[in-house]
Amino acid sequence: MMEIKTKRLILRQPTMKYAKDLIENINNLDVSKWLLVAPYPYTMKDAKWYINHCEEKAKEKTPTSYEFSIELKSEKKIIGGCGISGIDYDQGIADLGYWLGEKYWRQGIITETINELINYSFNKLKLRRLQIPIFSDNIPSNNVAKKFGFTFEGVLRKKAVCKATGKIHDENLWSLLKEEWKN
Ligand SMILES: CC(C)(COP(=O)(O)OP(=O)(O)OC[C@H]1O[C@@H](n2cnc3c(N)ncnc32)[C@H](O)[C@@H]1OP(=O)(O)O)[C@@H](O)C(=O)NCCC(=O)NCCS
Repeated sequence: MMEIKTKRLILRQPTMKYAKDLIENINNLDVSKWLLVAPYPYTMKDAKWYINHCEEKAKEKTPTSYEFSIELKSEKKIIGGCGISGIDYDQGIADLGYWLGEKYWRQGIITETINELINYSFNKLKLRRLQIPIFSDNIPSNNVAKKFGFTFEGVLRKKAVCKATGKIHDENLWSLLKEEWKN
């Protein structure tokens, strides 16, 4: 199973062992109101479905997505998730996504995570363009994209329905090209 280690974190495929941690962190409307497909409330059934989905994906010969749980080494707990999705190897493109439990915000954890996702996408998967679609009103996440040098390309009007809230959002599209990425 693939693992990416950073100073504080281990990124790897979600497993059932951590289902409770997952629920503890994602079963929070202040998190899931910014995500596309996470239900609220988030039950053990949802966690099992998601983990099983990740296991199935990982079996594919050329996976069209990679889902990672974010483990905080110091607590030996899963504190969030991230992933590379919609991978199109012919086009060389994919989308990035990420979330963290509320307790862990503003400690540079997503900064540590995204660096790895970007390196993995450009260097291992040999992609050439990454996108992050972000609800237009999600200020922290739009700032994340900006901080990492992504370019704002525009607003997709009423593009997304949030599963947790049922709310319709405009979506900002951000992109980063391989030649723009200086790690
Ligand atoms: C968005 C989110 C992942 C940020 O994670 P984080 O680990 O707190 O982010 P970091 O500490 O690495 O901060 C990175 C940058 O994000 C921006 N940022 C993070 N939180 C912010 C906030 N509350 N307000 C404004 N900017 C913020 C800042 O630019 C920050 O850079 P800086 O610390 O140099 O100022 C986190 O807030 C979260 O999980 N939110 C709910 C789920 C979500 O929105 N996911 C993204 C869906 S597109």
